Amino acid sequence: MAQHEKAVGHARIETNNFLMIVLITLVVAVGGLVEIVPLFFQKSTTQPVEGLKPYTALQLAGRDIYVREGCYNCHSQMIRPFQAETLRYGHYSLAGEFVYDRPFQWGSKRTGPDLHRVGGRYSDEWHRIHLINPRDLVPESNMPAYPWLEKKTVDAAVMPKRMSVLRTLGAPYTDEEIAQSVEDVKGKSELEAVIAYLQVLGTAVK
Ligand code: HEC
Repeated sequence: MAQHEKAVGHARIETNNFLMIVLITLVVAVGGLVEIVPLFFQKSTTQPVEGLKPYTALQLAGRDIYVREGCYNCHSQMIRPFQAETLRYGHYSLAGEFVYDRPFQWGSKRTGPDLHRVGGRYSDEWHRIHLINPRDLVPESNMPAYPWLEKKTVDAAVMPKRMSVLRTLGAPYTDEEIAQSVEDVKGKSELEAVIAYLQVLGTAVK
């Protein structure tokens, strides 16, 4: 008897589009809010980890080139909290390490290794040779060569604008840093910029 009544109740929902939509919306909304809203208020997800600095002008220029060249298509920047990952790459990624990353470069595919803690792992010279032709260092590599990075210079004129936009989004740049940015990157090659960016990745957490 009780079973029969239940079936009638559920059948009523399933045969009424409007009721079904309202109830699904309610369930998804509650589930979503409970999961998402606390993240906006948790310090561990909104505050920078200790020692995290916003990118310098040169690192920021390198980051833009990393995005332009599509490095994220093959490289993630997100070490998951599993032993297989932490043994290979180091400490798992923390939300507070990405607060100045706009947009973040977590990626979604690893054709090559994760790069979140690549900073300091190799010398600048290693990166220089590797980016110009990966096969010179890793014969079996299928990473593309980026020889033009060495020949092109960074577009210095856009840096103050880039940095002041990031400041409105929360990166604590000073007026001096913004004013100095053109001077900081002037005449630098794109290769130097990308290497500066790679060398700082993941270094805020030891
Ligand atoms: C088609 C996929 C692909 C693209 C695109 C790509 N890579 Fe790679 N990358 C790889 C592979 C595969 C490896 C591993 C072999 C090697 O070291 O060359 C690698 C290795 C690396 C390493 C060494 C990582 C380590 O821990 O040993 C760095 C640094 C790197 N890539 C940076 C970049 C940068 C910067 C770009 C963009 C300019 C880029 N990659 C674009 C596939 C790619």
